[in-house]
Amino acid sequence: MKKINIAIDGPSGVGKSSVAKEIAKRLDLVFINTGLMYRAIGYYCLNHNIDLENEQKIIESLKEIDLNLLPNEKIELNGVDITNKLWSDQISLIASKVAKLPKVREFCVHKQQLIAKNNPGIVMEGRDIGSVVLKDAELKIFLEANNEIRTKRRVEQLLAKGINANEADVLKNIIERDKRDSERDATPLIKVPEAIAIDTSYLTLEEVIQNIVELAKEII
Ligand code: C5P
Repeated sequence: MKKINIAIDGPSGVGKSSVAKEIAKRLDLVFINTGLMYRAIGYYCLNHNIDLENEQKIIESLKEIDLNLLPNEKIELNGVDITNKLWSDQISLIASKVAKLPKVREFCVHKQQLIAKNNPGIVMEGRDIGSVVLKDAELKIFLEANNEIRTKRRVEQLLAKGINANEADVLKNIIERDKRDSERDATPLIKVPEAIAIDTSYLTLEEVIQNIVELAKEII
């Protein structure tokens, strides 16, 4: 089967990682979750008491950060696997703050493009994959869903990871992050014209996956 690159973008809680993971499995491609990089940088800042309003300090800290983003939702920070420390709402919010900075984005995008170069046939999910990271991806998908559904999905995802979550807090977090992600100056979350939009609000996970696998098979 021909190896293609698939870019999956969309706002928080829309189901990007569940969808991307399964598509990669079915099409024998590599799955990469790019949000982990912004989460890991946020985690580093939190643990080193870096003031998130101090952009210069955040940028300087990049020199001390060695990130190894691995397939199947894993990331190492300076040689240590920290993936299971990155899922809290606190880290989500901090991630969206550091992700606003152009230098942080350059740092992450460069690594992500290198991963794509070394792993032909990749399903990458994030906010700027179709617009920046994998501009030449053969298939670009933009997932959407209404706030209520996204909140429910995110609560379920957190509970499944053993993190307590209530809907009101999760909704607030999603709205704040979406606003920051779509309004930032540096490569905001956008749907590029060639991306195929799928509203997943009233589709099952399996239906979304089937839909994208069909689109991919037309190209393969
Ligand atoms: O995808 P996830 O929710 O884990 O991403 C956490 C945060 O990282 C997002 O809210 C967004 O601010 C940032 N992000 C980004 N570009 C990406 C992936 C994530 O700006 N490609």
